[in-house]
Amino acid sequence: MLVNHQERRPIVELLYFLEIGERLAHKCATAQAAMAPTSKMRQFLKGQAKQEAFHATLFQTAGRWIAPRYRNRPTTLQPFEEYSTLVTDTLNRKDFYESLLAEQVILESLGEAILSKIEDGLQKRHAPFRRLRKILLYQEAAHHGFGERVLEQAMANDRLTKEELNEKAVPYLELSHAMILGLKDLFEEIEEDPRDYLAIQQQFLPPWLVTTT
Ligand SMILES: [Fe+2]
Ligand SMILES: [Fe+2]
Repeated sequence: MLVNHQERRPIVELLYFLEIGERLAHKCATAQAAMAPTSKMRQFLKGQAKQEAFHATLFQTAGRWIAPRYRNRPTTLQPFEEYSTLVTDTLNRKDFYESLLAEQVILESLGEAILSKIEDGLQKRHAPFRRLRKILLYQEAAHHGFGERVLEQAMANDRLTKEELNEKAVPYLELSHAMILGLKDLFEEIEEDPRDYLAIQQQFLPPWLVTTT
């Protein structure tokens, strides 16, 4: 069996966390597609929005498959909700570059950390749907790479500076760390250390983003 009885609740809650992250990514990419400066970017973002909607459905389906009757939601969603509010404000202000920093660069680095860690565990257990999981990881890496490239280009064209981006990044980085530490109890139940996820997230962040935590 892939998921034993004790692991079921924390894994379902972790999958729910991923599902709502994908829904936020979908909402964000949809809004970004309407404000991106070039048609090539708009096209990429429309594609991303579709992929994020599909990812959300995948995680929802996986959660229901593991525990069909389990309906409790995690109690530690406050940092995620604050993150979501900040991203929504940024989209309403039509700040394209800040939205890329918040979604494709920082939130996706957290998603990639969780997914790559889950993937290690799934490979050890010879879990099914390997191809589907590979596609998902590949798509997430593409979204993340897109965000970094567009921001690097914007810095090269003097549209914004590294210092401005670093200043904008502060609340998002703090909240992304709070999200992981807020899931501490869930991680402990599946014998994982949340600090490992923070270390992996760090590896996915670009070198121009200076993190202090
Ligand atoms: Fe996604
Ligand atoms: Fe993504």
